[in-house]
Amino acid sequence: MANEYKVFATFGFGEIRLPIFESTELFARAVGGETDIVSKEMYSFEDRDETSISLRPEATASVCRAYIEHGMQSLAQPVKLFYAGPMFRRERPQKGRYRQFYQIGAEILGGTDAPGIDAEVIEMLMTFFDKCGLEGATLYINSIGHNAPECRRGYVADLKSALEKVKDKLGPDSQRRVDTNPLRVLDSKLESEQAIIATLPHIADHLCDECKTHYDAVNRQLEVRGVLYRENWRLVRGLDYYMRTTFEITAPGLGSQNAVCGGGRYDGLVELLGGPPTKGIGFAIGEDRLLLSLQESGKSQAPKGRDVYIAWMGERAYAAAIRAAKDLRKAGFSVELPPLELKFGKALGQADKLGATYALILGDNEVSEALWTLKTLSTGEQTKFTEPDLLDYLAKQRSTSS
Ligand code: HAM
Repeated sequence: MANEYKVFATFGFGEIRLPIFESTELFARAVGGETDIVSKEMYSFEDRDETSISLRPEATASVCRAYIEHGMQSLAQPVKLFYAGPMFRRERPQKGRYRQFYQIGAEILGGTDAPGIDAEVIEMLMTFFDKCGLEGATLYINSIGHNAPECRRGYVADLKSALEKVKDKLGPDSQRRVDTNPLRVLDSKLESEQAIIATLPHIADHLCDECKTHYDAVNRQLEVRGVLYRENWRLVRGLDYYMRTTFEITAPGLGSQNAVCGGGRYDGLVELLGGPPTKGIGFAIGEDRLLLSLQESGKSQAPKGRDVYIAWMGERAYAAAIRAAKDLRKAGFSVELPPLELKFGKALGQADKLGATYALILGDNEVSEALWTLKTLSTGEQTKFTEPDLLDYLAKQRSTSS
């Protein structure tokens, strides 16, 4: 994926390295004590000083903690950061759902909450997927408003009373959620509940004027950027820190675990963690699922072969081969230099197996004539070059193919 990360740099994001574990308290406050992630899925341990630490189930909380701890509010705002690494959740493992999985995420902290920010972060995400060769991804978007009686809180109250009326028709999980977190009922995938959920009130009809204006503007901004989206009023997300924009991306070939990315706006999270009032928005891609979907569509990248395999024979040729490897690597080519002499036939077989583009053949003749043989492995074509011409030739080939 390293090459694809360049997309983030083109949008002005820098990398942040985050710790694998943090205090349990951080996740409980940020993600929410009632959420499945915190209440059931965290790997938590008691440290020697009897404080509780947890393997990170996600990284947004850590980025916010780092923002506060390192005084990033005094940098130019907004601060744009991306990260990649393992996360841990104690879930029932199945295809696309693991206890240790990998996320690639990005967060924008500080500055404004202008809808252009929401749209640009989504545009970046879709550009990243495009660069990876992911096909058939669908972007779903929603607004869950903000936590006030005239907005989301009013909606949740309405939703709860509508749910009370149909509670006996719901399964045990949803029945419990009617009391603990009614919004999460909308997440249910249970076939028997779908018809009931379809009759529940929609949040769009309960958004306050400001949240509604923001949501409409995000959609318009996506259109301006040519990003296709579908609205999904049931997209509420499973973490407590979200407000306003929420989004998820699904990809084909994944079965029931088909979300390859989730994200949204979380103004107020930094403040909740003890920092100044700060706007925030971000996403995390499930890297395992992304790779699965690419594999299913036959798009997974085979490990990249070498540019040049150096097939050498003889002591003098080895010295020339070492020099050639050094110059080629300096020019940015990937080079395989076998440490032991191999017969040419065997060396060329090895070059093939490694998926090399070229074999540079260096034997006694080549060294005494100062003319090196370059074999293009896909065609079998062989050409002789002087040492400087060889580098020029390869550099030209590279610039025409990229
Ligand atoms: P999330 O929706 O919990 O959001 O996770 C994001 C993505 O991680 C999911 O869409 C999925 O692809 C992947 N994922 C989650 N759990 C697993 C698992 N057990 N096995 C494999 N993949 C999994 C977050 O984590 C938020 N921190 C995203 C965010 C960043 N929101 C704002 N900024």
